[in-house]
Amino acid sequence: MKTGRHRLLTGPSRKPPIDLRPLPHDGSAVPSKPKKSPAPGPVPRRFETEAIHAGHGYASETGAVTPPIYATSTFAYGNPGGFDYTRSGNPNFRNLDAALAKLEKAAFCTSFASGVSAITAVVSTLRSGDVVHAEENIYGCTYRLFAQVFAKFGVGIEYYDFTQPENFARIAREKPALVWIESPTNPLLKVIDIAAVARVTRSSGVPLLVDNTFASSYLQSPLELGADLSLLSTTKYTNGHSDALGGAVCTNSTDWQGKMIFAQKALGLQPSPFDAWLTLRGAKTEAIRMERHCANALAFARHLERKPGVRFVRHPFLPSHPQHAVASLQMRGGSGMVTADLGFDLDRTQRFLSLLQFFPKAESLGGVESLCCHPATMTHASVPLETRLRVGITDGLVRFSVGIEHIDDLIADLDQAWNRSC
Ligand SMILES: Cc1ncc(COP(=O)(O)O)c(C=O)c1O
Repeated sequence: MKTGRHRLLTGPSRKPPIDLRPLPHDGSAVPSKPKKSPAPGPVPRRFETEAIHAGHGYASETGAVTPPIYATSTFAYGNPGGFDYTRSGNPNFRNLDAALAKLEKAAFCTSFASGVSAITAVVSTLRSGDVVHAEENIYGCTYRLFAQVFAKFGVGIEYYDFTQPENFARIAREKPALVWIESPTNPLLKVIDIAAVARVTRSSGVPLLVDNTFASSYLQSPLELGADLSLLSTTKYTNGHSDALGGAVCTNSTDWQGKMIFAQKALGLQPSPFDAWLTLRGAKTEAIRMERHCANALAFARHLERKPGVRFVRHPFLPSHPQHAVASLQMRGGSGMVTADLGFDLDRTQRFLSLLQFFPKAESLGGVESLCCHPATMTHASVPLETRLRVGITDGLVRFSVGIEHIDDLIADLDQAWNRSC
């Protein structure tokens, strides 16, 4: 009997449940069915919320809160997701596309294997004879791609200083196929007034691409400022843990989106499902990481600025930054990057960098750990000496990616390396 009673309590019941609701005080009849509540209105989804929830639902057959890694090269035909072959689509990078589109405030996003793949995808849409206008201080590998790869296919590039608005007249006059800027730039952290450039490109019918890698989606929204394409090396702040490579191109244009999806599959530029999964996981903490990066970098930059003999220290939110006013308008924070000309010769610069204990000398940036870089011999070694010196990449120039460690420890490290390198 005991067993029977137990079964009665827990087993599925066919009888309708007894209505235990209290009788209404006015004596009216209890409605036979509870009233339908009105359809829920949209709940606001700010950056922090989108970062956690965009990109995947929980309604799959298992209800897994974290999506699985779809380690598959191909898919059986006729599946509800419409997937066929991972080079042209995989749930992990389609999840990432959806999340990054939200974070960049874009209608669309296409993920790639790296930032350089994303650059390749965009340039692959150009034709022989096309000319790109670019900010003269851009990432060294972007420079190298144009000089050593795309030039062979007849795509030209002209560089000039985009912090000088009088130069924008060239866009209206020469109508390039594309305008290419970074803001802040790598490594000098020049800040370009994106809205001002966009006004000119829009009225000239020229597409504008902003490489948003140094700012991050959390701190800057290029499409809202008028850009047509926002490009990310997701290897950096988006993922934030230095354990995966990736790139992305975000846009509101269906035409550009079609071209990006085509480039992804036709050129084989797709990310691996595992890297896409890691990047989606990393992006969930982008907001809180960026807050700490910004605070640490600003404190670090202020401290470095007080060292004797330092020629300049650049951080977009330092009042001494030449484009500080523009940075404060278009960015929510100055990011974790600090660049300084220490005024040292090559030997002393290298000695100082090698004495740092929490800043390994390494390529890349934007991870939770601090890193340092010597652009002249590392990221920008492929830029000709004359161009390097013209834009300010001297032997004494160092770039710090300030991580999210305790700021007092980072400053103590800076002080001991400074004192010992004297
Ligand atoms: C501004 C910028 N854009 C693009 C890239 C290329 O990204 P990836 O290394 O992921 O190919 C980098 C890499 O450092 C970068 O700094």
